[in-house]
Amino acid sequence: MTQDQQKQAAAQAAVDHVLKKLDFDSYLGVGTGSTCNYFIDLLAQHKGRIAGTVASSEATAERLRGHGIPVEDLNSVRDVQIYVDGADEANPHLELIKGGGGALTREKILAAAAGSFVCIVDAGKRVDHLGRFPLPIEVIPMARGYVARQLIKLGGEPVYRENFVTDNGNVILDIHGLHPIGSPRALEEKLNNITGVVCNGLFALRPADLLLSAHANGVETLSSETRN
Ligand code: 5RP
Repeated sequence: MTQDQQKQAAAQAAVDHVLKKLDFDSYLGVGTGSTCNYFIDLLAQHKGRIAGTVASSEATAERLRGHGIPVEDLNSVRDVQIYVDGADEANPHLELIKGGGGALTREKILAAAAGSFVCIVDAGKRVDHLGRFPLPIEVIPMARGYVARQLIKLGGEPVYRENFVTDNGNVILDIHGLHPIGSPRALEEKLNNITGVVCNGLFALRPADLLLSAHANGVETLSSETRN
């Protein structure tokens, strides 16, 4: 399978999972990115089965609505039973780097709020150690210079993502040079503590519960019960 076929296969596995597990009156969280776009397009064939969704970005909300799938505000729903999203990197502990598409803050809110977090990836996203993919940090615009200096003190090389504003009106710094991240949880906490940082793209304090990982010959399922 090509990378695109792997993304579609992982997305189909997530649709199958949702159809099996999602309660009829429960809400589904939907992530952002090309793998999630496949998920949305495949989900559209079963839209009558879904009470409603909560989107992790304006782009995802628009795509869902384009298919006639209802989208609600997170504040208006009782709970989000399952959240499906892609990732930029996933390690064997189901810890992730996310935010390549810049939607990390809303994605992390949905992952936190969801009963279960299902991550869908192609083989290119699987790593032993996180950090080769530049780690995205969402920052309040006026704090950009200050935050960048703190990131350099932590040993990173922050790069300002030019011409990009998040759905929340903030900017992104992508931190290069972090590989291998020895303790993703500790780094996530440190980054959370820098004033001016809204959110960082490490999903280690709240990792995925289920990883549907496509490779050349099929889709492998890793769950938090079996993770290393
Ligand atoms: C967006 C994300 C995406 O999940 C991540 O960038 C993966 O994207 P793709 O499925 O296009 O490879 O975190 O903020």
